[in-house]
Parts: sequence; C-alpha cells; structure tokens
Amino acid sequence: MGVTLAVAGKGGVGKTSITSLIIKNLIDTGQRPLLAIDADSNSNLHEVLGIHEPKSVGCIREDARKLGEDVPGGMTKDRFMDYQIQANLEETKDLDFLSMGRPEGPGCYCMANNILRDVISKLTTNYKFVVIDNEAGMEHLSRRTEEEVDHLFIISDPSPRSLRTIGRIFQLVDEMEGRIHNQHIVLSRVQGSLDDLPLSTRKEIEALPVPPLALIPYDDQLVAMDLEGKPLVEISSDSVAYIAVKKMLKEIGVPN
Ligand SMILES: Nc1ncnc2c1ncn2[C@@H]1O[C@H](COP(=O)(O)OP(=O)(O)OP(=O)(O)O)[C@@H](O)[C@H]1O
Ligand SMILES: [Mg+2]
Repeated sequence: MGVTLAVAGKGGVGKTSITSLIIKNLIDTGQRPLLAIDADSNSNLHEVLGIHEPKSVGCIREDARKLGEDVPGGMTKDRFMDYQIQANLEETKDLDFLSMGRPEGPGCYCMANNILRDVISKLTTNYKFVVIDNEAGMEHLSRRTEEEVDHLFIISDPSPRSLRTIGRIFQLVDEMEGRIHNQHIVLSRVQGSLDDLPLSTRKEIEALPVPPLALIPYDDQLVAMDLEGKPLVEISSDSVAYIAVKKMLKEIGVPN
C-alpha cells in the first residue's frame, strides 16, 4: 500500500507549486513507482510537471456512460472504466500521471467524488507514493468518504485571512473520522523569518492548532520560472522553496 500525500488550502496559496516540489523531491530521491493525481478540475499540474495532459477520468467516465449497455468484450462497466483509466495514464520515465477531470472540454465533466475516491483507492496499491493536488477548500475532500490520506499538508500564506482558514480545515479533518492520518500546517511564501511578520500575524500563527511543520520561503526563482512558463519540477536544487520542501518531507520520514 502506497503512501498518499495531499495538499489542501485556500485558493492561490501555493498548493500546486508545493505539490510539484514534493514530486521533484520524490523523483530526485528515486521513490518509485510514483503516481501524481491532478484532482483540481481547474488546475494545471501537468504544466508544472512539464508533461502532456492525458484524457481525464471525467472524460473516460462520460465515454463509458455514452456506451450504455454496449461495453466491449463483455466487460462490466466498472472493469471497462478501470481498464480505460489504466490505459490512459500518462506515463513518463519518472512517474505516472492521472487527471481527474476538467469541466470545460467538450463532453467532459467534473468527476463525481465517489468515482475519484474509488479510482484513488484502487490505484494507490500499485505505487510507493501517490501525490494529490487538490482544488481550493476542503469540502471536496470530505465528500470523498473512504479515501485515506497519510499526510495532508494544509497550506497557508502568512496573511491573517489565509491563516484563519486553517482552523476551519482542521475542524473538517476532525469530522472525517480518521481518514486523514496526519495533518500538517505549512506556511508558504514567507518573506524573511517569522519574526519579520507583523505582530498581529505572529499572534495568529501562535494560535494555530499545531505549530507549522514547515515554512516555505518566498522564492524568486520559482516566480521567474512561473512567469516564463517553465515546469517547476525543473527548478534547480538550490531553490529556497525546494530546499524547504525537501526538509519538510524528511521531517515526516520520507527518506532523502
Ligand atoms: N514559494 C513561493 N514563492 C513565491 N511565489 C510562490 C511560491 N509558491 C507559489 N507562488 C506563487 O503563488 C501563485 C499561486 O501558486 P499556486 O498556483 O501553486 O497556488 P494554488 O494554491 O495551487 O492555487 P489554486 O487554488 O488556484 O489552485 C503562483 O503565481 C506562484 O508562482
Ligand atoms: Mg492549484
């Protein structure tokens, strides 16, 4: 059974960037087999990974629906979907990639949460690590009622408004009855040290349910790569954000 890592947090706090740096570290340290899942219907994880976007599970499901009872080879619909999902994984030398769904494509729909959950639980058994980039908020995760997550990174930037959402996310995690085995707070885009933050912000940080596991510094190199549209997995190993993500993974026991 693979180790499942996932991110959560308010919109625009750095979830996709941190996901790509986690993936870079798992690749660099030879953690194989590795599966990356884009579970954000508006996301672009494939772009930060520099890979082609495969046919999404949402599209596969829609194709299966259109077939009606006419499933090829006498397969059950579930078997057919599993087969199609497996066949449509984007495979690179470093990882396999799965996109859950995109609402805007012709004939493609957002994934129903129960299908996402089933796909994830079936696939995770084949991988050493599974990394999931989620959409903003948390409700989607709480609806996926049986999926297990070993480490959930709750990302926030150091602004009081973003920090206050962490408490709500912790509450939701509590209501999820132990399916999230470990939850960690990660502060992203931190300029300077925590002591440089305004007093009111430092007070918000002190009031967090647990102290932050990691501080990911503001990284000019990451911003420049984003502006140039370069895949973040290609960031150099001396990137300050990458170094912090590497330390964070070590903290939770990922060998590196
Ligand atoms: N460590 C960092 N230093 C500087 N800028 C960063 C850092 N991490 C992320 N950013 C910038 O913040 C912006 C949002 O990042 P990202 O897309 O990763 O957030 P997100 O939480 O995935 O957003 P969404 O909720 O829209 O999916 C991007 O422009 C990115 O370049
Ligand atoms: Mg994102």
